[in-house]
Amino acid sequence: MKGLVVMTFCFFLLLVASPSALASRKSSKYPKPCKQIVLYYHDILFGRTRNILSNSTSYRITNATNLGNYQFGSLIIFDDPITKDENLRSPPVAAAQGLYVYDMRTDYSTFFAFSLIFNSTEHKGTINIMGSDPLGAPTRDLSVVGGTGDFFMARGIVTFTTEAIESIEYFRLKMDIKLYECY
Ligand SMILES: *[C@@H]1O[C@H](CO)[C@@H](O)[C@H](O)[C@H]1NC(C)=O
Ligand SMILES: *[C@@H]1O[C@H](CO)[C@@H](O)[C@H](O)[C@H]1NC(C)=O
Ligand SMILES: *[C@@H]1O[C@H](CO)[C@@H](O)[C@H](O)[C@H]1NC(C)=O
Repeated sequence: MKGLVVMTFCFFLLLVASPSALASRKSSKYPKPCKQIVLYYHDILFGRTRNILSNSTSYRITNATNLGNYQFGSLIIFDDPITKDENLRSPPVAAAQGLYVYDMRTDYSTFFAFSLIFNSTEHKGTINIMGSDPLGAPTRDLSVVGGTGDFFMARGIVTFTTEAIESIEYFRLKMDIKLYECY
C-alpha cells in the first residue's frame, strides 16, 4: 500500500516535471500565432559504407569525447530535405542547413542551429532556428530567432516531435513552426 502511494507520487512528480507537461501548461498563455507551418525534416546519417554514404544528407565531423556515454562533443553537419508530408521521397519544399552537436554529459541532448532555406515559387527566404533538443522528451520547443525574405524578422517557436528513427541511418522530425511576429 505504502509502495503504491510512493509510486503514484513519483508518477505525479514525473508528470509535473516533464518538459512536455511544462510546455503544455504554459502554452495556453501564449497568444495565437500569426503564421503556422508544419514541415518534416529528414536526416540521413553518415552511413558507414560508401554506397549509403553517397546518399547521406548529414555527416559527423567530430567524434564524441570520452566524457560520459552520450556522444558528448559529437558534431553533425547537415543539408537535409524538408517536405510538407512525412514521405522522404516527396519533393522538398526547403532545405535545412546547419548543425547539431551533442552537448550534455549525462543524457542524450543536442543543440541545433540551422536555417530553413526556401527557394520556390511559394516561398523565398529563410527561417533561422536554434535551441536545445533533449532527445528523450516527447516534444521540444526551439526558438525561431529570425528570418529573411518572405519571413522577414520572423520570431517564434518550433516544436520538434521525433516521428521515426531507423537505426542510426535515418530519423524524421515533425516541425510545428509557430510565428508570433509576421510582417
Ligand atoms: C541510394 O540512392 C540510390 C539512387 O537514388 C538508390 O537506388 C539506393 O537505394 C539508395 N540507397 C539507400 C541505402 O537508401
Ligand atoms: C573518428 O573515429 C574514427 C574511428 O575511430 C576514425 O576513423 C575517424 O578518423 C575519427 N574522426 C575524426 C573526425 O576524428
Ligand atoms: C533559387 O532558385 C533559382 C531558380 O531555380 C536559382 O536560379 C537561384 O540560384 C536559387 N537561389 C538560391 C539562393 O539557391
